[in-house]
Amino acid sequence: MLLRNIGVLVGVDGGDTPFLRGREMSRIGTVENAWLRIRDGRFSAFGTMDECPAADADEEVADAEGGYVFPSYCDSHTHIVYAGSREREFIDKINGLSYEEIAKRGGGILNSADLLHETSENELYTQAMTRVREIMAMGTGCVEIKSGYGLTTADELKMLRVIARIAESTPMKVKATFLGAHAVGRAFAGRQGEYVDVVCNEMIPAVAAEGLAEFVDVFCDAGFFTVEETDRILTTGTQYGLRPKIHANELAVSGGVQVGVKHNALSVDHLERIGEEEIAILSEHQTVATMLPGASFFLGMPYGPARKAIESGAIVALASDYNPGSSPSGNMRMVMSIGCIKMKLTPAEALNATTINGAYSMNESRDYGSIAPGKVANFYITRPMPSVDFYPYAYATPVITKTYLKGKEVTF
Ligand code: NIG
Ligand code: FE
Repeated sequence: MLLRNIGVLVGVDGGDTPFLRGREMSRIGTVENAWLRIRDGRFSAFGTMDECPAADADEEVADAEGGYVFPSYCDSHTHIVYAGSREREFIDKINGLSYEEIAKRGGGILNSADLLHETSENELYTQAMTRVREIMAMGTGCVEIKSGYGLTTADELKMLRVIARIAESTPMKVKATFLGAHAVGRAFAGRQGEYVDVVCNEMIPAVAAEGLAEFVDVFCDAGFFTVEETDRILTTGTQYGLRPKIHANELAVSGGVQVGVKHNALSVDHLERIGEEEIAILSEHQTVATMLPGASFFLGMPYGPARKAIESGAIVALASDYNPGSSPSGNMRMVMSIGCIKMKLTPAEALNATTINGAYSMNESRDYGSIAPGKVANFYITRPMPSVDFYPYAYATPVITKTYLKGKEVTF
């Protein structure tokens, strides 16, 4: 396909940048008045309209009519396979209960686990696919999905099989993470150590045997799993070929960043509560600092210090955390805008944080995260806009007109 009359082609690079760190994050490649060519589902070339090539005989020609073209979002942290929804807790929160108080009363994650247990694999797939279509329509082209609402070996495998089925049936790129240590399963109440044994001795080997996940995650935080337990789970996961990506420092300064970096985690996520020490560590390593502004917004928590982390030289990504408890939205444009408004990222930094750095934190920046010859042609077209900055600024104005995944238009 030859796409002509693009107002601004945004997020172009040479394809040789795995991630951007620190001040490099303010760099965003743009081409004004551009054309873009796609061959065999991948970007093949781009340039300016004054030198637009003639279309080949068999080539489809499309007109962007002055709209902008962006690389699809790479949402590196979601929990979109879940059963039902939890708006009852939404009301609890309005009435003053905290996320931890709800969890202590047996709500929260355990609530979703009960519901998931009662839901068939088919029904779970159907419910999750509604969210998959929703995020594709909002510009996401590569997504990580976690297990963690099973909390028994059978139910964790059920969730991961649903993720595998989504991966097979959608043009979006899907990456699977095993998060058995998301909470202690009900049957193990008061016996957390034994639950960790099951995670290490039963769940991880079963997940690896079926090849159902690429990453291993732990909710390493106050009231959930300790640093020692996290250390043990990540050691076991690594032995079985799973790369760590963890939840850390959401509820307390948990030591999660340190244990994640020690295990060469691809990313440490949340980070609402990190100090100078954690920022310094992240600035010296290739572990991505992934922040989730949608969770801070929804739970009324502090925002992660993304600005400081960038100033210090860390690789910062922003993701949606789409889940029923702390962030019931996968709107990455909103994530970008909150990143700008509340975390003081510039639009260019927020765009890089939700594209190339998100791709890197899923180990996918070779194929996704920017518009470069050879990368998979995942992109969307907007209506004409006055500038790139307008996009996060007019944060709720719908602008996307068409979405393409693997070079093909996605219709809903
Ligand atoms: O990333 N923090 C831990 N897990 C999810 C929330 C899960 C839930 O409440 O259902 C998160 O915020
Ligand atoms: Fe999460």
